[in-house]
Formats: sequence, C-alpha cells, structure tokens
Amino acid sequence: MDLTKEYAQTLDHGDALNSFRELFHIPRTNNGDEFVYLAGNSLGLQPKSTATYIQQELDDWANYGVEGHFLAANPWMPYHTFLREKMAKIVGADPMEVVVMNSLTVNLHLLMVSFYKPTKTKYKIIIEDGVFPSDDYAVQSQARFHGFDPQDAIVRLAPANGLFFEANEVNQQIERYGDRVALVLWGGVNYKSGQVFDLKSITDTCHKFGIVAGFDLAHMAGNIPCSLGDSGADFAAWCTYKYLNSGPGSLSGVFVNKKYSNKKEIPRFEGWWGHDQQSRFLMDKHFIPMEGADAWQLSNPPILSMAAIKASLDIFDRAEMQHLRQKSIRLTGYLADLLVKMDENNRIKILTPPYIEMRGCQLSLAVTNADKAFIHLLYENGIMADWREPNIVRVAPVPLYNSFLDVWKFVNVLIRLANAL
Ligand SMILES: Cc1ncc(COP(=O)(O)O)c(C=O)c1O
Repeated sequence: MDLTKEYAQTLDHGDALNSFRELFHIPRTNNGDEFVYLAGNSLGLQPKSTATYIQQELDDWANYGVEGHFLAANPWMPYHTFLREKMAKIVGADPMEVVVMNSLTVNLHLLMVSFYKPTKTKYKIIIEDGVFPSDDYAVQSQARFHGFDPQDAIVRLAPANGLFFEANEVNQQIERYGDRVALVLWGGVNYKSGQVFDLKSITDTCHKFGIVAGFDLAHMAGNIPCSLGDSGADFAAWCTYKYLNSGPGSLSGVFVNKKYSNKKEIPRFEGWWGHDQQSRFLMDKHFIPMEGADAWQLSNPPILSMAAIKASLDIFDRAEMQHLRQKSIRLTGYLADLLVKMDENNRIKILTPPYIEMRGCQLSLAVTNADKAFIHLLYENGIMADWREPNIVRVAPVPLYNSFLDVWKFVNVLIRLANAL
C-alpha cells in the first residue's frame, strides 16, 4: 500500500462522490485552513443549502403569518410528510412506518410506553453494557415506573472478549435470559466501539421468545443502509444531528412496524398531532389515530428544524445510501490500513471490529498514555475528533464530505503526536 499524500489525492480524484464536499461548510482553523473534520458521528456538518431552506420558512412566516400553515411554499400543516419518504428510504422502511418528531430520548420513552409491557414474570430489559448513558437512564426509569427494581430488571450484556461482540454472541446471550425478557433495546451501531449489529438476527432471536425488539439507530441512520422493515423490528428511533447533518439538537426519526398500525390494544401517549388530520380541527374529545407511525405524534412540529432536515435529506437522496456506503467502506478501510502501516511503535489500538460488515464510518482508537489533553492537541493541529474516557479517540470519515486526503492528514498528525506521549 502506498503511504504518500499523492496516493490519497489520487484516490480523491477517482471518487465519484468527491464533489459533495462542496455542498458543506467545513470549519476553519485560526489560520484559515480547513479543519480535518472527523466528528460527524457526533455532529454532522452544515449543508450550505440549510440556510436557504430555513430562510424560506422565515420568509413565509413573515409574509403569511398563521396562513403559512396552508400558503407557505411547503405548507406547515403537512410539513412532516415532506420528510417521510426520504427518511424511510434511509432506514429501509415503508413510509407509513416512519415519522420525524421530538428528540431521541423522548421518543425512546414514548415507544417504551407502547412496547414495554412487563408482566410479573416477563419484565427484564436487555441493553448493551456499553450503551449510551441516556438509553440506560431511560430503561432504568421505565422499569421503576412499572414498579420494578432496575437492579433486577435491567440486564446489561458485555462482549466476552471485552472489546466487541463476536458474530451470534448477542443472540446467544439473549437466549440465556429468554422468556424472562420483555424488551431488548439495542443500538444499530455502538457509540463507543463503532460495532455494527445485525438488526434482523437480533429481532429474530427476540421474537422466538416473544420479546419486543427495539433499536436505537443514532449511529446507524445515514451511516449504513439498513432494512428496518425487512428486519421485522418492532420499533426504532434515531437522531438527525449526526450522520444526517440536520443541526444541533435536531429532531428524531421514529419507526413503528406497520403491524401495529391502528392496533387498539397498543397503549400510547397521545396528542392532537397524532389525531386524524381530516377531523383534527373539529376539536372533538374523541381521539382518532392517524395511520401508522403518525399516530405517535403529540405536538405540531418545529418547522425551522424540519427545514434543516429537509435540506439534508435532499442531499442524501441525490447521493444515495448505497453509493455512500461503498465510499465509506473504502474511506474507513484506508484509515484502518494507514494506521496499521504507519504505527510502527504500536501506540494505537483499533477497538472497532476489523470486519467490514461489523463497522461503519467510525473507528475507535485507544491511544497509549493519552489523556483528555490529547484531543485538544489534535484540535490545535487541525483535527476535530471526539474523545471518550479513558483514552479513546473516535473518528468517523463521512463519505459525503470527508476526503482520502483528510484521512491521510489525520493519520500523520495522530502518529506524530502519539509517538511524542
Ligand atoms: C446512541 C445514542 N442514544 C441516545 C442519545 C441521546 O440523544 P438525545 O440527546 O437526542 O436524546 C445519543 C446522543 O448522542 C446517542 O448517541
């Protein structure tokens, strides 16, 4: 393998998605140089078109006031439906199974209200031991809300090798708890290790034991093509501010399997935006649910935030997830190869599984002797990455806006700084 800068530039010239980088604002250092931005797994970059999309709604608000609900170029009343098809394509679902609303943790709670239905003997919730803490807090509080002791109700699964789950290991561990489990809430991609999980195989195992399979796709949506519909998953939720580039704190996507559409026995917290659109303004007391995931909506949505999502989804639609994934495999593969070849002093350990099907954009790197000052050092050297204790640098080359040259620059800086620790 060629370790030169020229080789990285050659790879960029041959990249059919290279021009998409131009569609994004790339943050700059004090010297005016572009940062090597590898934190898209934390907060995706801003599309240049976002401002125009938001400005459109501001103009329509200025010009039409409340009538913008009907007269705006993109009328606000059905605005969430403008996102539906493209979002459904990203997660591989039927459009009626998908809605954009609220934030991620809020949605996980709303979905657990519907799908965590514990009994005296079947009440456990399985999560990853290394799950993002918000999910852990959410399931603990759900168990408590139903009168269970989280110490007993929550089962946290850890990989036997201490790093990542081997193929089928999650399924085998779920089988051990079998009938005592009411819900498995699992990540599509683990935030810390970057490991990708097979939604279908986890769902199949859950369903063998009558367990509800729910997924947090925060690190999967826009990173890896998924087939939520085919997986048979019961529900899922994801944020849009990471790989989906829709801005800080942006809204969350929700998937509810269509088999639950209009099922009367599903408990649900309800609000007027989940009420049948045709008769919503009759202001009747009797709740008539919309079809599909729409019924889970509570409030009229924040249009300005949705405009940012619309701007981003339009870019995804042009690039297409399959092409993005192909580039991502090459980009992250190049990163892994360069690290292995250039780390002659063995300062870096790659924690993410080495198999292509078990990783997406992200690699998690343990840096020998590093503490949090290291991430600041990277920043001062033009690299924006992300830090997790105790010594992990997470980097995610994103195929929409990162280049092979970005990866080359990062590895050279990283190795130089790591060797100096
Ligand atoms: C895997 C995962 N779950 C949940 C959350 C919490 O998201 P929110 O603050 O939008 O509820 C995050 C945030 O980064 C996350 O990465």
